[in-house]
This record gives sequence, structure tokens and C-alpha cells, in this order.
Amino acid sequence: MTAAAQLKPVVAAPTRTVSIVASGAYVPPGIRTNADLEKMVDTSDEWIYSRTGIRERHIAEDHEATSDMAAEAARRALADAHLGPDQIDLILVATCTPDMTFPSTACFVQQQLGATHAACLDLSAACAGFLYALDVGRQYVASGQLNTVLVIGAEKMSTVMDWTDRTTCVLFGDGAGAAILQATDASHGVWPAVLGADGSLNKLLAIPGGGSREPFSQQVLDDKRHCLKMAGREVFKHAVTNMAAAAQEALQRSGACIEDVACIIPHQANARIIQAIGQRIGAPIEQFYLNVDRYGNTSAASVIMALDEAARNGRIQRGDLVLLVVFGGGFTWAATLLEW
Ligand SMILES: CC(C)(COP(=O)(O)OP(=O)(O)OC[C@H]1O[C@@H](n2cnc3c(N)ncnc32)[C@H](O)[C@@H]1OP(=O)(O)O)[C@@H](O)C(=O)NCCC(=O)NCCS
Repeated sequence: MTAAAQLKPVVAAPTRTVSIVASGAYVPPGIRTNADLEKMVDTSDEWIYSRTGIRERHIAEDHEATSDMAAEAARRALADAHLGPDQIDLILVATCTPDMTFPSTACFVQQQLGATHAACLDLSAACAGFLYALDVGRQYVASGQLNTVLVIGAEKMSTVMDWTDRTTCVLFGDGAGAAILQATDASHGVWPAVLGADGSLNKLLAIPGGGSREPFSQQVLDDKRHCLKMAGREVFKHAVTNMAAAAQEALQRSGACIEDVACIIPHQANARIIQAIGQRIGAPIEQFYLNVDRYGNTSAASVIMALDEAARNGRIQRGDLVLLVVFGGGFTWAATLLEW
């Protein structure tokens, strides 16, 4: 008999229902208002608010890295769940502004939490990253391979802004959100996500410099190619089309209709994008949760920060059907339904 034949067979574990049992969020205290930006670039509060719905955004201090914000959001989620850090099996961080190229931001979070039993992994899907990470974490718990997964979206977008470029610097902010996934006896929990991407449109929203394609050089720095570059109008159109389609597909797969959804929590990039999605999927603006006015676009952190806030202020209640939908560079997009 060969050695392999003596091994135990791989038995498919039964699928378990997975729920977000707790959440937490953190934004740095420093606020940069539209009035502050008027002093930095040729813009106005009227232009920014009418085009985007943004009034202000939070900006981290120089000493505060993405993992610091992520760890604070995670501490709040752990406190909410009455769990200790040693109970976490996996830390998944969605971010496009990691502390370093490596180690992963998740490793720094592990160190800060003292989550010594956790495996650590970062996931990159730009502003759509949190729902991609949520779906990865969900599958580990659903399969029975892991019991407790900490999924985080965290960004220090202020470090990749060109603060002389008025077409981008008014849009983004810093922050973090965290969710804890466990198996529960809920009837539905978190549904499998609708995931999509179109890599052929990679140039429309990107940080082109500083990676292996264009390594750091004086030229990269002089041209600010280590900062976020975006074709705003094109991104707007693709964001509306893909988020609306993903939301509709998520509903169709679950058998739910839009009227069943208590609250739609979209990626908080722009209030006009959200309005346009509402028109496409037949949802009034009141059905959406919006906080883009206070945080701007916090990329991978935005949807979990909004979900956490909606839960804490009572906009969503346990048992509500919630629709999450996101879009980001890549392009990448995702939508999922969950029973809160
Ligand atoms: C960026 C965005 C707000 C720009 O709005 P827009 O109506 O498309 O505006 P345009 O880019 O066509 O620019 C219109 C004019 O405003 C100017 N402008 C751009 N940013 C400005 C600012 N902050 N303040 C004042 N004027 C500004 C432009 O220079 C342009 O001037 P011009 O006509 O003299 O050339 C919009 O395209 C958008 O929200 N796109 C999606 C961005 C996004 O959400 N990205 C992240 C997705 S994850």
C-alpha cells in the first residue's frame, strides 16, 4: 500500500449558514472639509457637494497606518461579539493602501490584536475588496474548515492622493470597518456573492507607479504616478451599469425582489452614482443608506463602515434583508444579500 493510500480521505464538510455576528468601524478624528480643500486647490464646496454629495472626509495622522485603523475597527467588532482575539481563525484585510508591499496588513493587525492563532491574508480588489473578502471568508466558515473569520476593509487613501489634483483629491477619505463571520442557525445569513471584473479597463482607475510595472524612480515621483489616477466620467458610467446589474443578479439568484430589501448599502463613492443605480433597479433613494457626505470614498472600507453605522443607528435591525453592492478599480464589482 502506498503512503498516500493510508491517508484519511477528504470528506466534504456540510455547508453551514454564515452570519456577520458583529461589526465595528473606526475613522481617524481629523476632518478635512470642502472649505479646507478650497484653500488647497481650485474648487468649491458647491462644486464638490453638487457633483458628489461629499461635505467632508476623515484624514489619518502621519503616524497612523492602515493596519492601525483596521485593528481599532477589529477591536470594536470583537467587543461587540464578546470574543477574544485568540478565537480568530483567519484575518482577511481588503485594502489597496497596505502598510507595506509585504508583510500583509493582516499580519500587522494580527500583531496588534494578539490574535496568535489566526492565519493572515490581504486581498486586493480596490473599492470592491470588502465584498470579495467577505465571500472568501464566508466560504471558509460555510465549509466548516474555520469557525471565526475577521474580515476587514481598511484604507489610508490620503497617502495615494495627489493633493494638487482637484479631479481626485476631493473624493476620497480614510477609515476602516470590520466584520466577524461565524456559523449560526439563522435561516439565510450571508448569501454567496455575485462577483465580476473587467481587467481590460484597468487604466481608467489605477495607481500606475511604484509597482513592478513602473518601479519607484524620480520620474514616477515627479509625475505623481504613485498617486491615484482616474477617468472620472468613464468610471461613473461603468460604476452605475455594473453595480445595478450585480444588484439585480444577486436578487434574482436569491428569489427576493427589491421590495423585500429593508436597506441597500452601496459603495459610498458618489451620491449621484447611487441615485442612478436606484433608478435602474427601481429603488427610491430612501431605500439606500448614505454616509458619503461625512466620509467621502473610503474604498474597501466604505461598505462595511456604512453597514456598521446603519446597524448602530437602528437603520437596519436583526433579521432585515440587506443588499450590499460595490464597484472599484480593475474594474471589479460585487453584490451580496444578507440577513442582518
Ligand atoms: C469625478 C466626478 C465627480 C466629476 O464630475 P463630472 O460632472 O463628470 O465632471 P467632469 O470630470 O466632466 O469635469 C467638469 C469640469 O469640472 C472641473 N472639475 C473637476 N474637478 C473639480 C473640482 N474638484 N472642483 C471644481 N471643478 C472641478 C473639470 O476640470 C471640468 O472643467 P472643464 O469643463 O473646464 O474642463 C464624476 O465624474 C465622478 O464622480 N466619477 C466617478 C468617480 C468615482 O466615484 N470613482 C471611484 C469609483 S470606486
